[in-house]
Amino acid sequence: MVPPKPAVLVTRRMPSAVLAQLDAVGEIDLHTEPDDLTHEALCARLRGKQGIICVFTDRIDAAVIAAGDQLRVIATVAVGFDNIDVTAAATRGIVVTNTPNVLTGATAELTWALILAVTRRLGEGERVIRRGAWSGWTFDFMLGTELRGKQLGIIGAGRIGRAVAAVAPAFGMRAVFAARPGGDVSGPETAAAVLPLDQLLLSSDVVSLHVPMRAETRHLIDRRALARMKRSAFLINTSRGPVVDEAALVWALEERLIAGAGLDVYEREPRVHEGLLSRENVCLVPHLGSATRETRATMADLAARNVVAVLCGRPAITPVRLPTGGRSQTAGVRRKQEGFASIRRTSGDTES
Ligand code: DGY
Repeated sequence: MVPPKPAVLVTRRMPSAVLAQLDAVGEIDLHTEPDDLTHEALCARLRGKQGIICVFTDRIDAAVIAAGDQLRVIATVAVGFDNIDVTAAATRGIVVTNTPNVLTGATAELTWALILAVTRRLGEGERVIRRGAWSGWTFDFMLGTELRGKQLGIIGAGRIGRAVAAVAPAFGMRAVFAARPGGDVSGPETAAAVLPLDQLLLSSDVVSLHVPMRAETRHLIDRRALARMKRSAFLINTSRGPVVDEAALVWALEERLIAGAGLDVYEREPRVHEGLLSRENVCLVPHLGSATRETRATMADLAARNVVAVLCGRPAITPVRLPTGGRSQTAGVRRKQEGFASIRRTSGDTES
């Protein structure tokens, strides 16, 4: 008797070429509605499935994983996997895969788009024209900040952070990386430009965040960090919303402790803090980091190839590794405080 084909839950519409790959090895249960599957629906639809292709808004927690009684592979169409309880999956011998590398270029591009948009006031200028409020060219109208000769401080020296840094010389900027608390940025190409985090915050003209979402990176940018930045500096976040304490950011903008922010990600997506919505010096885009046709197709293709590999008994192409040491929340918070150990808030520190 021919064994039944394995079944795979796909939580979003995917390109037909991607579905065809899955179709060749298994039965597809495709969620076609635009809304996320509820937690309950995820649990119900996962029963009897060997694989799942999900996105970062699907919360794949221990209960969902337990409901997947036959689950062998969880493939997220994202590089970040903070929505998945990877420890619960590992305990049950389930492989978790993500889509690194393929979205590096698109996310780095969007980072630069935000840097340019906020320093040259593009959103603000657009809004002026659209509401018919532009009365013509004047010598000192809507002056922005030039990038040439300035310092770009990058927090997070993974693929995306390095790709953003690689573009800096084209704009005449010097890129520096933050040393991780208790460790340095590895790699010879960055060895000459690594600063302790507080020094980076004090001296950079643009600070760009590229860390994964973990206990120790939650609210990495809080009131203390923002108070360290130059009054003329801009904050860019294309990583994960909760890396920035949004209420603290609103406070820093209101107090004019920084010059502006370019944000792609938010603490409670799709909600955006009211205090950000009303500010002209903040450029807001709706989590578009990897949102190009080319990149999304490649991400979906890689996720499908990971599922096919595991279901066919081969190693996954891009398995995720458990965060080192499986640190507790408390340990994470302690590590963050160590990172800021040398920070002292004095009134003069935030002057540019
Ligand atoms: C990712 O890949 O983590 C993005 O945030 C989702 O596209």
